[in-house]
Parts: sequence; structure tokens; C-alpha cells
Amino acid sequence: MRFSLLCLISFCSFAVMAEAPNQGRQSELKNLLKHDCGSCHGLTLKGGLGPSLLAADLHNKPDNFLIDTIQNGRKGTAMPPWKPFLTIDETRWLVQHLKNRS
Ligand code: HEC
Repeated sequence: MRFSLLCLISFCSFAVMAEAPNQGRQSELKNLLKHDCGSCHGLTLKGGLGPSLLAADLHNKPDNFLIDTIQNGRKGTAMPPWKPFLTIDETRWLVQHLKNRS
């Protein structure tokens, strides 16, 4: 567990300089948030089956923790892994987007 977390952190620090998704992909990701994530987290992301994804509720959770949750899902819960659909860069962008939404 600790080992994989360390790998994740060092991998992320390598990728920090990576490009943000282009405009077209950013609107696809916003759509995904509303329609796919929204089906569990609520259309306005205030929470439903899954917890709230509002900026106020995410701001003190570490980025790597949230990125890992989105990429790999949470075993034993309804949160599915999105790795097949989202690259690490896209997931990082989504986390920043969620944390900066007002
Ligand atoms: C099928 C339902 C479902 C879908 C679809 C879903 N989630 Fe979740 N998600 C959950 C549940 C349930 C949890 C809480 C897991 C737990 O109990 O730890 C969760 C947890 C999370 C967390 C951790 C929140 C925290 O405060 O720790 C994040 C971030 C998250 N989801 C993002 C997303 C994103 C982004 C999407 C769309 C790409 C998405 N989820 C789609 C059900 C879902």
C-alpha cells in the first residue's frame, strides 16, 4: 500500500509539467462530469450515491488521493475505475477543475 502510494506520488511529480487537455477535450470532460459522474454524485455534484464533489468538500483532500480514486475506483464501493476512459493528465485536470469550481 505504502509502496504503491509512493509510486503514484513520484509518477505524478514527473507528469506535473504535462499539457492540459485541449479545449474540445475539456468540454467533453465537463460533459462526462455532468452525465456520468453526475449519475452517482448528483447532477450538480452535491452528492447522491457518491459523496459531494464540490470544491468546498474537496479542497483539503490531496490531489493524488483524488486522482487515484478516479483512476482506480474504490474496491468494495460503487465508485468504478475510470482508467480505461481517462488519462492521468485528464484526471489531474478534472481534479483541478473540481477544486476550482465555484
Ligand atoms: C456508479 C456510481 C459512481 C459513478 C458513476 C462515479 N462515482 Fe465517484 N464515487 C462513488 C462512490 C459510491 C464513492 C465513495 C466511495 C467510498 O465510499 O469511499 C465515490 C467517490 C469518489 C471520489 C472521492 C471523493 C472523496 O471525497 O473522497 C471522487 C473524487 C470521485 N468519486 C470522482 C468521480 C468522478 C470524477 C466520476 C466520473 C468520472 C465518478 N466519481 C463517477 C460512486 C460513483
